[in-house]
Amino acid sequence: MLKTHNCGELRVEHAGQQVTLAGWVHRWRDQGGLVFWDLRDRWGITQVTIDQQATPEVHALAKDVRSEWVVQITGIVNQRPEGMTNPDLPTGDVEVVATDVQILNQAKTTPFYINKDENVDEALRMRYRYLDLRRPPMQHNIMLRHNVIRFIRNYLADQGFVEIETPILFKTTPEGARDYLVPSRVHPGKFFALPQSPQQLKQLLMVAGYERYFQIARCFRDEDQRGDRQPEFTQLDLEMSFVERDDVLALIEDLMTRLVEEVTDCELVTKPFPRLSYQDAMLRYGSDKPDLRYGMEIVDITPLAAETTFKVFTGNVEAGNPVRAICVPECGTYSRKQLSELEENAKAAGAKGLAWMAVEEGEGQVRSPIAKFFSPEQITDLIARVGANPGDLILFASDAETVVCEVLDTMRRAMAARLELVDPKQIAFCWIIDFPLFTWNEDETRWDPSHHLFTSPMPEDVPLLDTDPGQARGQQYDLACNGYEVAGGSIRIHNRDVQEKIFGLIGLDLEDAKERFGHMLEAFEYGTPPHGGIAPGIDRLVMLLAGQPNIREVIAFPKTQQAADLMAGAPSEPTEAGQLEELHIRVVLPD
Ligand code: AMO
Ligand code: AMP
Repeated sequence: MLKTHNCGELRVEHAGQQVTLAGWVHRWRDQGGLVFWDLRDRWGITQVTIDQQATPEVHALAKDVRSEWVVQITGIVNQRPEGMTNPDLPTGDVEVVATDVQILNQAKTTPFYINKDENVDEALRMRYRYLDLRRPPMQHNIMLRHNVIRFIRNYLADQGFVEIETPILFKTTPEGARDYLVPSRVHPGKFFALPQSPQQLKQLLMVAGYERYFQIARCFRDEDQRGDRQPEFTQLDLEMSFVERDDVLALIEDLMTRLVEEVTDCELVTKPFPRLSYQDAMLRYGSDKPDLRYGMEIVDITPLAAETTFKVFTGNVEAGNPVRAICVPECGTYSRKQLSELEENAKAAGAKGLAWMAVEEGEGQVRSPIAKFFSPEQITDLIARVGANPGDLILFASDAETVVCEVLDTMRRAMAARLELVDPKQIAFCWIIDFPLFTWNEDETRWDPSHHLFTSPMPEDVPLLDTDPGQARGQQYDLACNGYEVAGGSIRIHNRDVQEKIFGLIGLDLEDAKERFGHMLEAFEYGTPPHGGIAPGIDRLVMLLAGQPNIREVIAFPKTQQAADLMAGAPSEPTEAGQLEELHIRVVLPD
């Protein structure tokens, strides 16, 4: 090794020892006769001093060294004098007085500071990702990710799970996104599809008798990018045989609980994880991935609103639509201007308006443009139903069910952010269960699977597949955390007849189904155990545990929002002449 110790290691007890350190010059100060370096490696920062009087040749070499140069130093560990210590650094009680310096590599001036945690244009960070990854906050995120994955591997191995790799070059495994295709040179005109998840393969591993499988699996989905989506991302993919829903939930709940408590400095605020039916979650939070770190639950006031004389409400109730409200603490003093900002927020989420009521001191006293449409008793009743106190602000939504959910979910999140109710160090998991098996696809006039086409219906709802598929619930479960979906899974269909029926309902004719999933149907005829599983998204999980706003912060080499790699310049044109011919591909660019 070119070093005897790392830069996070030295303490007072090392005083007097000769050590060799190597790393990057994080900061330098030239104080005439004395040069100071903060020397950085992956483990930390140690102060190095170079004294012109004591070591003139070393000083002559060191005085021109700049930030991010790579150096090796040998010297004596010295306890820093009283008043010169740095309590912010674990190594802050010592310094190394250099007796020898080797410059291992020089560095150009970096396009942004490595030693300052300042806002840098993200495109620039992506272009120079290897420098971005040098920054201590990024190193923290990447190390956390490593520790999370290591914990998961150990935990599952201890529980009898086997880690098995599955192919990347495979056949379509639909999870609701577009496939990435890879042309075959050997089979002209044919393509592999990169897996959107290892879903089929893990089910086949259950047919194969492995009973407990997991994989830290890369998945590929060509879909619109968002802060919590990447075209390639990582799942903890897991499948178990001879289990029921609660077995899978119990395993993941224990894994997540221990992970948060043993690997992070976050506080788990929901223990045990609450379980909400999909319907309940939509009613109370307007979302199937609610943030439970704060209240402001949605209250349905449809019957009360129906009795008022406010035309927007009564008109909606007559049309079969709900009227719902949230009570926001401490915002009753909002000005007209602030309230119209909120209204713009709501409109962006699809609302036609945002009625409000500010609750004031005194029984039934409110300030509101719609107060005149309510009787005094109705106002008192409303205040009681939403649990409002003087000083609170009540916000209303009335529209089609889906719009009301979307608007109040948006307002809940927006108000929590304004009121700074969200603590990134808090982790609030909850299970969402009892999903509808299908959602109606208006454009294609057919049913789409809510999860994926291998999810088993609730046993008692199987007859509904013939009579009323929209009412059938699936044995699906999601894990939500801090307002994000962090895992999804289900108990699977392990019976060919039910699987064929599902194909029919989602508009896959049997020939088509056989072409795409014949291997699954066939496998199900050779003794398939009942099985189920789940897949937590590692990127999203680590993002939340790191308190980061998007998953790019916890992925070493992510793609941009435009699904590109700015560092390597990918995607790009083929590099070799004849590559496309060999693949039997002709490119037709759009005009
Ligand atoms: P699902 O499609 O719900 O289920 O995905 C599971 C989890 O993966 C994460 N995730 C993503 N993370 C980053 N970028 C993306 N584009 C992205 N898409 C999904 C989410 C999500 O909860 N095969 C099933 C699992 C199963 O049934 O066992 C599946 O893939 O955190
Ligand atoms: P109007 O009588 O149309 O001026 O509306 C009175 C108040 O109701 C305004 O604050 C509007 O923003 C609000 N409003 C209008 N439509 C809706 C709706 N569908 N849901 C909730 N509030 C609404």
